[in-house]
This record gives sequence, C-alpha cells and structure tokens, in this order.
Amino acid sequence: MSRIKIFDTTLRDGEQSPGVNLNKLEKLEIAKQLERLGVDIMEAGFPASSEGDFNAVKLIADTIKDTSVTGLARTTKTDIDTAWEALKSAAEPRLHLFLATSPIHMTYKLKMSPEQVIEQSVNMVSYAKKKFPQIEWSAEDATRSDWNFLAQIIEKVIDAGATVINLPDTVGYTTPAEYGRMFHFIRETVPNIDKVSLSCHCHDDLGMAVANSISAVENGVTQVEGTINGIGERAGNAALEEVAVALKIRSDYYPYETGLKLNEIKRSSDLISKLTGMYVQANKAIIGRNAYAHESGIHQDGVLKNTETYEIITPELVGVSSNTLFLGKHSGKHAFKDKVKEFGIELTDEQVKEAFKQFKQLTDHKKEVTDDDIYTIIMEIKTEAAAVNKYQLETFQVHYGSADIPTATVSLETPEGESVQTACTGKGSVEALYNTLSNLIKEDLNLLDYQINSVGGGKDALAESHVQLSVNGEPTNGRGTAQDVIEASANAYLNAVNRYIIKQQSVKQKEVVK
Ligand code: KIV
Ligand code: ZN
Repeated sequence: MSRIKIFDTTLRDGEQSPGVNLNKLEKLEIAKQLERLGVDIMEAGFPASSEGDFNAVKLIADTIKDTSVTGLARTTKTDIDTAWEALKSAAEPRLHLFLATSPIHMTYKLKMSPEQVIEQSVNMVSYAKKKFPQIEWSAEDATRSDWNFLAQIIEKVIDAGATVINLPDTVGYTTPAEYGRMFHFIRETVPNIDKVSLSCHCHDDLGMAVANSISAVENGVTQVEGTINGIGERAGNAALEEVAVALKIRSDYYPYETGLKLNEIKRSSDLISKLTGMYVQANKAIIGRNAYAHESGIHQDGVLKNTETYEIITPELVGVSSNTLFLGKHSGKHAFKDKVKEFGIELTDEQVKEAFKQFKQLTDHKKEVTDDDIYTIIMEIKTEAAAVNKYQLETFQVHYGSADIPTATVSLETPEGESVQTACTGKGSVEALYNTLSNLIKEDLNLLDYQINSVGGGKDALAESHVQLSVNGEPTNGRGTAQDVIEASANAYLNAVNRYIIKQQSVKQKEVVK
C-alpha cells in the first residue's frame, strides 16, 4: 500500500465559501479537530489577505504540533514575508505559493507573458527558500494550461527549490481520464520530477472532484488536497472524507492508504458544519444523515438478514454512532468531565464550570442529553470571543397566533451597560423578534440569511440557528443555540452583532496602541 498524504484546506479554500466567516477561536478548534483526524498538512489560511487571517494562521502554527501547518501566498516578497511571520513557529514551516499558468489567467488577470510568469515563480521560490524548508508551488488553473508550458515552468521551480508541485483544477473543468493523463505527461516529461512530490487539488463544478483526485493518485500523485464536507469556492473542493473512505473501502482495487483516523470523520464533519453554518445535505456520501438509512422494505429486509446486502460502509467506521443516551439529571461533575475528556477537548476549570452549569440547565428541559448536545455546549463556550462589552439578552417574549399580529417584546443590556426595552410587530414571530432587536441596537442591521436546525433528533432537541447580517454594510455571521427555536434565533442575531462589535473594538485598540 502506498501512503497518500492528506492536505486539508478547509480553513483556507473552505473558508472561501460564500457566507463563511470564522473567528480565530473557531479556526483553532477546527485545526485541533483536523489534527485529531490525522491530516498530514493543514492550510490554516492566507496570512497576507487580512489581519484576521494572519492572526489565525499564527495562532494555529503556534499551537498545532503534530500536523504540518501551511499558509497560502502570492508570488510576492510581502506575501512571503507575511506568511513567514505567521508560520515561523510551526513544527515544520511550509509555504504554499501560487501563480496562474493558463492563457486566460495570464492574459486577462495577471497581464503577464508566459516568460514573466516563469521568472516571477522562479524568483519567488528562490526567495522563499531562504526561509521555508518546505515549499509547495501551485500552477493555478493548471487544467486549462498548456501541458508543455507546465512542464517547462515545473522544471524551473523545482530547480529553484520547490518541494511539492500542485496542479489544481481551479475551475472544476477537468475529467478523471484527462487529469490522470496530465500527471502522467508531467511525470514522463519533466526531468527532475523525482525530486518533488506531486499534489492534486480539485474543485467540484462538474461534480467530479473526488473522481479526479483518485485518478490523479492512480497516476503518481502522492498528496490529495481538499476539504471536509467538500466546502469551498463555488461548488466546493474534493471532499477528503470521500477520498479517504473510497480508498479504504475499495482497498481490494486501490493500493493506496491515507493516515486519516476514519472514526474521527463524523465529529470533524459535524464541527465544521456547526461552525461554518454550511449544513451537510442528507444524501451526502459518507456523512449525510441518510447515508446509513434504509427506506425501502426490500432493503430493510436484506439489511436485517445481513447488513452487507445493502451496506458497504459501516457507520462505526466513520464514527457515526447511534448517539446513545449520555448523562442525565442526576449525573455529577466527575462523569461530565470524563465525557469532555472522551471528546479530546481541553477546557479550563472555569470553562468546565460553565459547561456543567449549562448541561444541568439543559437536563431540566431535556430528558435525554446526548453527546451531540454536550459537544454543542462545549463548542459554544470554547469559541466564544473574549469578554468585551456587548449586547446581552435580558428577557424576551413573542406573541404569535394565527388571528393576531405577531409581536415581540425584548429587553437588552447594551454594551454601555444600560437596560433598554421595546416591542415591535412583524409578519411572523422571527421577523417580529428581529425587528425588535434591530430597533434596540444602534448599528444599521439587515438580515441576509437565516437558518434553523435541530442538534440531533427528538422532539426536545436543542435548536441551532445561523444568521448572516449586514452590520453597517459589513456581512457578519452569527450562531446561537437554545432549547427553544425563537431563543436560538435571538442568540444567533445577537451573536452576529457582537462579533461585529468585537472586531470594531479590536481595531480601535490597535489604533490606540499605534
Ligand atoms: O483552486 C486553486 O487553484 C487554489 C490555488 C490557490 C491552489 O485554491
Ligand atoms: Zn482551490
């Protein structure tokens, strides 16, 4: 079995999904889970793209020690220097440099000749090599590039010091056979190709990202790039859980293996969908809610007689459990702490105290508290930004009836510590609530997106809401959970506003320091 490296870009390409906007604590929790999942390399962000990205990449590089951490950079000295500042404390500092090689990108986007693209790539790889021991160079839009030109530039960047060559299907245009042939051609044509590893990076515009990645592996690629749940730009990236499980389940056919701990897949998928607000479709391969459900009578009958009749993957393989009853009303702190340890999550004493308090409150309303509920509570606490002055919900009441005008009354504590109240109407209960909140909050607010979901199943399941607001013209995401859907909706709305305020406060603090 040849070992295929998994390069996870959930925190970079995945975070480029429309509407996704993670804070640095959320990114850190995802990074820790990716480390538990056993990815070989994680791309933590694009340090030069924003101060937030720089800080998140630095925090992850400082913290994660069992996985190689990388960051994306354009082929410019400032991008490389900024990436170095963010990544220098990583266990194995690694840079991901990219420049486009297709005629359409060179002509219209870069306005550079092919010779200039070669020169800039070579110069910047040599420059980066003075700092970074590991350099991946990517030919953006490789699949729409001229193969002879690719061979020419690849040979030169290898001589300049690149250690990995990545040929992305940036726009999800290629097909499995064509992508495989491209790697075959490069391996046959580039004389120094044995000095580097080859990497594939596929987007899913035509729904072939996973198939294309596996075809690349069959043609000598030893590193697969992608994201958990396949999130990413447009239709997303290759879903890493699908690649890893396909190689495992069809190991009779594919002589390749990854180092992923497959039973961490479900938890990784859940965490990422929870924090990004990008829910996984029910029929998604490997981790969709229906992936292990059998509806037709004939199938159910077959599975009861022998699960292998209709099940090629056991749910346990990917960490899907039946979410058995966990702790209840009478459970003590000791048992609760043991459960937290089982998740592999570290909490401070203060955080354990708060989590236990919230767990106890939940047991007052919910008979069966599941692992999913506990995990949700813990993640809310772990990813809450440091205490600053913000809006806090004091009390609220929503009146709704089919014959009445929906009305909400809300009392809030403002960042200045003042208590304010008002009431407004709306066409529905959530609209009435949001109109009232918006009335009490000073910022200019517009609701762009609203989602409500349940955590796990059951009629007493926790509700989880995601919203996207425009706050003073800036898109900001928020997330909230509660036993009740209306309260979860209020929490998500306030969370978005508070995230904006936290960001503004940190900008102001920096101006004062300057
Ligand atoms: O899709 C792409 O081409 C990329 C590069 C930056 C590697 O994400
Ligand atoms: Zn990409």
